[in-house]
Amino acid sequence: MSSRSQNLVLPEGASALIQTLINERTGMFFDNGKRDLLIDKLSPLVIERGFTSYLDYYYLLKYDTASRLEWQNVMNALSVQETYFWREFDQVRTLVHTLLPQLHAQNPGATVRIWSAACATGEEPLTIAMALNEAGLFERASIEIVASDASSKAIERAQEGVYRERAFRNLPSGLRERYFAKEGSGWRMRPDIHGRIKWGLANLIEEEQIAPYAAADFIFCRNVFIYFSENAIRRAVRSFGKFIRSPGYLFVGAAESLIRLTTDFNLTEIGDAFVYVKREKVI
Ligand SMILES: C[S@@+](CC[C@H](N)C(=O)[O-])C[C@H]1O[C@@H](n2cnc3c(N)ncnc32)[C@H](O)[C@@H]1O
Repeated sequence: MSSRSQNLVLPEGASALIQTLINERTGMFFDNGKRDLLIDKLSPLVIERGFTSYLDYYYLLKYDTASRLEWQNVMNALSVQETYFWREFDQVRTLVHTLLPQLHAQNPGATVRIWSAACATGEEPLTIAMALNEAGLFERASIEIVASDASSKAIERAQEGVYRERAFRNLPSGLRERYFAKEGSGWRMRPDIHGRIKWGLANLIEEEQIAPYAAADFIFCRNVFIYFSENAIRRAVRSFGKFIRSPGYLFVGAAESLIRLTTDFNLTEIGDAFVYVKREKVI
């Protein structure tokens, strides 16, 4: 535990209460081996509120009806925003070269909707937008891209649209020059592509928050379920199944599996990628 958190009182049982509450409200699960890490990450927030005990902070989060803003601080403190352009690109390739053209051909008048459900600082939806642009799809089809995250800090950075060196480590050569302009120590995304994305805040385990986004043809929810408990994944995926359009396609990260966790989607290999396809109800 850090020296800062050593000055705070952690009554017996408090860390288990906090662990459970964080899991219930954010989906994130810090197992017993990571409880110290959780407590450490929360310590600056406990101090900022002027508390000397974690238990007081727990009561604030659990029972104070005015703690909505504080939950935003918790999300910002706990979220891991590691992401980069062209990450796990096989799935984006399948979207751009197979699934989206197929869907558009079936119903050319419809607007295709793509949701990046835990977009962090925006590299995932911007990768999708660049790939669609490279394929000339914005001229041929009506496409809407929405992107959300539970962390307000992440969304602020995504809206800013300026990226540092690390974000480009997987981007094919030439694309940085085509889509970004140097600005200070970073690179600013071209406004015509950045402006394609509608950004918002949404917690994946709050159904009413995701409902406006999840009525989509394609949901990208990648590299967030690795931090969730199985119950939280089930809950989020059940909501996806409820709102996603038909046919509907759900992409999760390569390290994530929904096999034992959903009956709403079937795992299918399409092109180079694995995709969860909404299971049609047999009437
Ligand atoms: C590692 S990033 C994944 C970024 C991107 N999808 C990718 O694959 O590169 C994980 C993101 O999940 C977000 N997150 C964690 N819990 C969440 C929740 N309950 N609802 C929405 N987003 C959440 C975090 O804020 C973080 O930005």
